[in-house]
Amino acid sequence: MLDYDKEADAYDASRGGEPRARAAADAVLGLIPAHTGRLLDLACGTGIVTRRLASARPGLRVTGADLTYGMARMAAARLPGAIVLADSRRLPFADGTFDAVTSVWLLHLLDDAQDVRGVVAECARVLRPGGVYVTTVDKAAAHDVGSDIDEVLAGRPRRAARDAAVLVEEYAAQCGLLPAGPARFLGHGQGRSPRRTAADLGRGWFTMLPPGDPLTERFAAHLAALPDQDRPRADPVFSLRSFRKPAG
Ligand SMILES: C[S@@+](CC[C@H](N)C(=O)[O-])C[C@H]1O[C@@H](n2cnc3c(N)ncnc32)[C@H](O)[C@@H]1O
Repeated sequence: MLDYDKEADAYDASRGGEPRARAAADAVLGLIPAHTGRLLDLACGTGIVTRRLASARPGLRVTGADLTYGMARMAAARLPGAIVLADSRRLPFADGTFDAVTSVWLLHLLDDAQDVRGVVAECARVLRPGGVYVTTVDKAAAHDVGSDIDEVLAGRPRRAARDAAVLVEEYAAQCGLLPAGPARFLGHGQGRSPRRTAADLGRGWFTMLPPGDPLTERFAAHLAALPDQDRPRADPVFSLRSFRKPAG
């Protein structure tokens, strides 16, 4: 996983800023029932999405939680008193506390299937009966938009997708959560340019290609040979899934 303490300052600008946050929050809210009261936003990061969830509806009381101090500190500046430092694998909340739990861009970061299963189980535990869990799935696959950059990177070693929809649906079912619908949002500003992709390679963004590795250098050289070095290719479209905890 990236060092999010180091990412924090540049995070919002490099992840599509407010347009991406608006698209993500709108799509998440579309899956959250109108009467929802308490919502927990896991891996809230800098709070750029969380703040939009919190201001969307008068009745929505939002808590954000994140593992990384640097990210949570920025979220706390946006939502004073509403942010906790917490590991999603062991949530510091009682059973049935929330009407909704959300996790945008968390599950793909987790180390192994056990962790993803554990997070989904924690979400199910802290949801009240009738509550809803909304999460992104298939994050890495969304970045493949069929561009010349994707062609160059096609042969790279890939980490198994921890957040594959089929797996998340399986873990959710094991916790008694029922499928409640999909949604999608546009990753504004997330389209890759060759130069930016090479820079991301160099700082370990693609975790299976360590910076300095000869294979990394080879991919960087191929990227450097592509035209329009600073022209972003198409923005990715990210997927959400929602699940409902049966009432009673
Ligand atoms: C890609 S950011 C997403 C932030 C935010 N949801 C957004 O859409 O802008 C991932 C966040 O997950 C947090 N994170 C990673 N592992 C975590 C865990 N086990 N529990 C809670 N947060 C975690 C990181 O600190 C980081 O802030």
